[in-house]
Amino acid sequence: MNPTYLIVETRSEPNIALIRLNRPKELNALNLELMAELRDTLKQLDQDDEVRAIVITGDDRAFAAGADIRQMSGKGAVDMLLIDQFSTWDTIKKIKKPLIAAVSGFALGGGNELVMHCDLVVASETAQFGQPEIKLGVIPGAGGTQRLTRQVGKVRAMEMMLTGEFISAHQALTWGLVNKVVPVELYLEEALNMARQLARQSPLAIRLAKEAVLKAHDTHLAEGLEFERKNFYLLFAGQDQKEGMQAFIEKRPPNFIGR
Ligand code: HXC
Repeated sequence: MNPTYLIVETRSEPNIALIRLNRPKELNALNLELMAELRDTLKQLDQDDEVRAIVITGDDRAFAAGADIRQMSGKGAVDMLLIDQFSTWDTIKKIKKPLIAAVSGFALGGGNELVMHCDLVVASETAQFGQPEIKLGVIPGAGGTQRLTRQVGKVRAMEMMLTGEFISAHQALTWGLVNKVVPVELYLEEALNMARQLARQSPLAIRLAKEAVLKAHDTHLAEGLEFERKNFYLLFAGQDQKEGMQAFIEKRPPNFIGR
């Protein structure tokens, strides 16, 4: 496999794989092709006995600025349903090896949801986290309404999702979204250090510990995700989603009409 939108390093260090999201000009916006490559790469690494921990990163400016708005903007509800992009996310959710996010710059929308699919998170001091979908006339679709609420609690999740404002790395640390905040020169090295530490443990114990912790997180999650998904698709039937995404592309403020 030779991915276009990822740089994958598996052999530079024993037992550790590093995946870099690589669409720097688009702030690593998660188009469907990148997500498919990420899914396939993770599945492959999950089956590779040499790999014991996986680090996912972007670049200093952005981890990922969300799903690709240009790719979504013209779609209708039925298109979105048939594209079925969330089956890709469902596969990522089932990866058994530990995933460590090394985040610098923007982790927004689907980018923040990808961070929440990881098990440990190291942030640089410049990292910013947000669910700004509301500004596009939609809502999170890859589990944000459910996972963020479980992680930070109702009022903080409401603040992030209803205002669309970003929070800083230090705020994210206080709110329990990240494990560590370090200077920007160190975030990747720190994430690799964590990976090295996990790689020294029993792979079986790590696997079962991850499974058990996710179980605690998961009770009734499936129902919540279905609910979120239907609402996400429904918004693509309205005019506000078209307006919100078109306004982003045209670099102007949106004019929402509630239809
Ligand atoms: C497509 C994007 C993008 C995105 C940035 N770009 N985010 N393209 N999809 N999500 C592109 C811009 O269009 C621009 O391209 C280039 O990246 C640099 O971005 P700028 O806006 O010029 O940079 P800056 O002024 O620094 O602002 C950074 C930013 C802003 C605050 C992150 O780009 C922004 O608000 N992006 C959108 C964030 C967002 O709404 N994310 C949620 C998406 S919806 P050009 O060609 O103009 O240089 C979502 C739903 C998830 O994630 C559903 C499930 C997967």
